[in-house]
Amino acid sequence: MTQQRLRIAIQKSGRLADECQTLLKGAGLKLNLRDQRLLSHCQNLPIDILRVRDDDIPGLVMDGVVDLGIVGENVLEEERLERQAMTRPAEFTTLRRLDFGGCRLSLAVDKDMDYTGPASLANTRIATSYPYLLAQFMNQAGVPFSDCMLKGSVEVAPRAGLADAICDLVSTGATLEANGLKECEVMFRSKATLIQSQQPLSDANQELVDKLLTRINGVIQARE
Ligand code: PRP
Ligand code: ZN
Ligand code: MG
Repeated sequence: MTQQRLRIAIQKSGRLADECQTLLKGAGLKLNLRDQRLLSHCQNLPIDILRVRDDDIPGLVMDGVVDLGIVGENVLEEERLERQAMTRPAEFTTLRRLDFGGCRLSLAVDKDMDYTGPASLANTRIATSYPYLLAQFMNQAGVPFSDCMLKGSVEVAPRAGLADAICDLVSTGATLEANGLKECEVMFRSKATLIQSQQPLSDANQELVDKLLTRINGVIQARE
């Protein structure tokens, strides 16, 4: 493929989508707000924005399909662990931790359960979309468990009788509350982060990345 415009992957819709667009616009990229196509061309710089599912962003960067990505550290770390387990490429460079998208990956149980530590979950089934982060945490705690992989609606699993506990993202806590669950263990604290592929860039694109990073630093400093 011929060297092209710099490619940046961001979340199409969800908790990071709006703030990604705000950040990139603040950094001077002219983007069409109403344009929700998968691929859109920045009007004033040689940059293309790809809007994809957040879960796809780490892999796109690790495979060098895109040059930059903005993604939650939780999703990034899960993909890194999964690829490591499968001996697939899992390298990337962190350019900057961002100032939005804060959340935590936590264990949660029925609000009436007497939870005293990870051992309280010995030999239970835990529903999650993050099986590698969950396994890492439980293995470090030395607690045997089984998991139940759900890509969504994780919080209904205990009530539905599919699992005894869940491991899911918590931000306000409203989802747990609404489902009669309580957060009992914080496993991982996450924010949005800007990452770069380790594929070498053309000189022009590397300069563009440096310029973009300087501007992003400026935007974040201004709102501190
Ligand atoms: C997460 C998580 C919960 C919700 C928790 O989903 O799976 O559903 O947010 O947030 P709260 O504590 O503020 O209620 P998210 O919106 O990130 O979407 P996804 O799971 O589809 O990626
Ligand atoms: Zn997602
Ligand atoms: Mg969800």
